[in-house]
Amino acid sequence: MKNFQFNRLMAVWLIFIIGFAPLCAQKAELIGEKMVMFTPINFDGKAHLPSFALENEPQVIGEKPKEWQINVEFAEAFDRSIAYLPLDVNIDLYGTGEVTGPLLRNGTTRKLWNMDNYAYERDRGQKLYQSHPWVLGVRQDGTSFGVLADNTWRSEISLGEGITFTSDSKPFRVIVIERDTPQEVMQALAHLTGKMPLPPLWSLGFQQCRWSYFPDSRVREIADTLRYKEIPCDVIWMDIHYMDGYRVFTFSPQDFPDPKSTNDYLHSKGFKAVWMIDPGVKNEAGYQVFDSGEKENVWIKDKDGNNYVGNVWPGPCVFPDFTQPKTQKWWAGLYLDFMKTGIDGVWNDMNEPAVFNGFEMTMPRDNVHFGGGGLEKDIHLRYHNVYGMLMVKSSREGIMKVNPDKRPFILSRSNFLGGHRYAATWTGDNESTWEHLRMSIPMSINLGLSGQPFNGPDIGGFAENATPDLFGHWIAVGAFYPFCRAHSILDSKAHEPWAFGEKIESVSRIALNRRYRLMPYIYTKFYEASTTGLPVMQPLFFADLKDYDLRKEDQVFLLGGDLMVIPKWAENPVLPKGNWRTLSLVGEDSEKDQYQPDLKIRPGAIVPCSKVIQNTTEYSLENLDLYISLDEQGKASGSLYHDAGDGYGYKEGDFSLIRFTAELTGNKLIIRIGDQKGGRQLGVKKLIVHLVNDNKTVQRGVRFSKTMKIDL
Ligand code: NOJ
Repeated sequence: MKNFQFNRLMAVWLIFIIGFAPLCAQKAELIGEKMVMFTPINFDGKAHLPSFALENEPQVIGEKPKEWQINVEFAEAFDRSIAYLPLDVNIDLYGTGEVTGPLLRNGTTRKLWNMDNYAYERDRGQKLYQSHPWVLGVRQDGTSFGVLADNTWRSEISLGEGITFTSDSKPFRVIVIERDTPQEVMQALAHLTGKMPLPPLWSLGFQQCRWSYFPDSRVREIADTLRYKEIPCDVIWMDIHYMDGYRVFTFSPQDFPDPKSTNDYLHSKGFKAVWMIDPGVKNEAGYQVFDSGEKENVWIKDKDGNNYVGNVWPGPCVFPDFTQPKTQKWWAGLYLDFMKTGIDGVWNDMNEPAVFNGFEMTMPRDNVHFGGGGLEKDIHLRYHNVYGMLMVKSSREGIMKVNPDKRPFILSRSNFLGGHRYAATWTGDNESTWEHLRMSIPMSINLGLSGQPFNGPDIGGFAENATPDLFGHWIAVGAFYPFCRAHSILDSKAHEPWAFGEKIESVSRIALNRRYRLMPYIYTKFYEASTTGLPVMQPLFFADLKDYDLRKEDQVFLLGGDLMVIPKWAENPVLPKGNWRTLSLVGEDSEKDQYQPDLKIRPGAIVPCSKVIQNTTEYSLENLDLYISLDEQGKASGSLYHDAGDGYGYKEGDFSLIRFTAELTGNKLIIRIGDQKGGRQLGVKKLIVHLVNDNKTVQRGVRFSKTMKIDL
């Protein structure tokens, strides 16, 4: 009923707009296989180009094919531009980036205006920290399309009987992709927007965070406790209290007098260290970052040409104008001394940008960005949604200059479609509630379906206090998010895995042991995401596009295409047909366990695992396990990617990518290793094959060779 009303309202609005506003003429050009770019005839490149979402400017290769299905109607009304795409009935819509609500986006309207939205309280969470002007449509038969509005200006996406993009901008371009499957659409999107760079292996481990661990002795204590309690973990995070009075690129002389020794200590225990940097720079003469920025004249100006000043943590702040090449260079240069203290990764927060005393928690829309290097001078209304993206791009350049041989890791709260080229993300300030735990799954899936594979929410919930039970459930599921970090707000009760008593400590250990066991599989899925654009966390309907019942399922999800995660709290989940079999990785019996989600392997899949480790510095394939689940034909296949885990040797051939196949003939299981790509040795010393059957898993040790025969 709700949707019906919404659609009627939408229709009335559109008839009104389109009735009064002359429809604009347009060009429709082929820019790739089954990819059409619709450009309104009065398109003004100065207001939109160069594109932020697209990695390269599209090349026209022909005319729109005659049989083309999804078309765009452009209109203008009341200083707003509209692109409307009428749709057939029964199309399921996804994507639209980081928003609250169910997986299926039909009948929703979301605003594209990046916003510091604590606990997702404002606008019912339909406006959060990132903007993705992108919709994925899946028809009943599984054929799919994607729609990308190439526009950074403040906008709205309404999904009613058609798709409507309404924007405060001049007319903008729209690209439509047609494919046979949603997976192919995602790959085509990555072809346009670029792929996520392969992250360092350590960033796929568990990460422990809090606002904030301080002083430095507390950081060591947390690190020691994780090791003492044998809770696997790769990263400890430093939130704003490490700074001197919240001044970015400084260290508190009292609490972090020697950041290098803190980092050295963490490294000696097998941890990496991620430290926060915000964009707001304290407006204070005598503070080196302010003085150097002032000298270079890098700040965003208000409409009268003065430095714009707004409040963030340090009090009054100025904000770098990242549209200017000189600002990008200056900002990148600030990372030199910072990273030299042994920092491994950077957390760029508050980069919507958040301004405490600003309307909608940000700066005025008529503030001025000066551009340069191809970007036009323009107002904040145009650059707001890409402020975070421009920031992380500059941060990344600075970090790579200091550590050219390492893969950078940046986590950004704000971003824009295409921003996965520079940073991973988390879903901002969620809450320690059941509602937010449940919502985290469709949110992360839709971010993945909007081209950001490396994402996840704060495990345990950020705001408020988690109960032991909620934390237990959250970490048990969270072990399977692509980005796996526990975090909590200032003044909340302790939220570390051991803070909730022995039972939850043990739940956490088992959950994270499962993740670390799966590291070869997870790394392979990240490698695939970085080469194909496929999301790591996938909607369940990817398992069977013909099974229409799966389209709405958003409690259960896929990790890669081969594993299904069924949270304990999932109510009447719709599961895919076929014999998905339960995996036990660390001796757990998930069917009986109160917290650990059921982990099921797809029939026909081979999932590589290694032994449980405490962090990825211990990662090796010496002990390799292959979990094999045969399909109805008695066959299975899978792959494994391996490299040094960091650096760029893999680009010169120091990697290996192998494909396994398994086949049951009589009572023999024959496993073959296909052609190996790349020259790196896997170093397998002990291989255990686990044939996952319905009731019992058969386990055999075998010598690792090209063809392995196992008598069952
Ligand atoms: C806001 C971020 O969303 C949160 O994760 C962080 O802890 C605080 N800023 C403090 O830096």
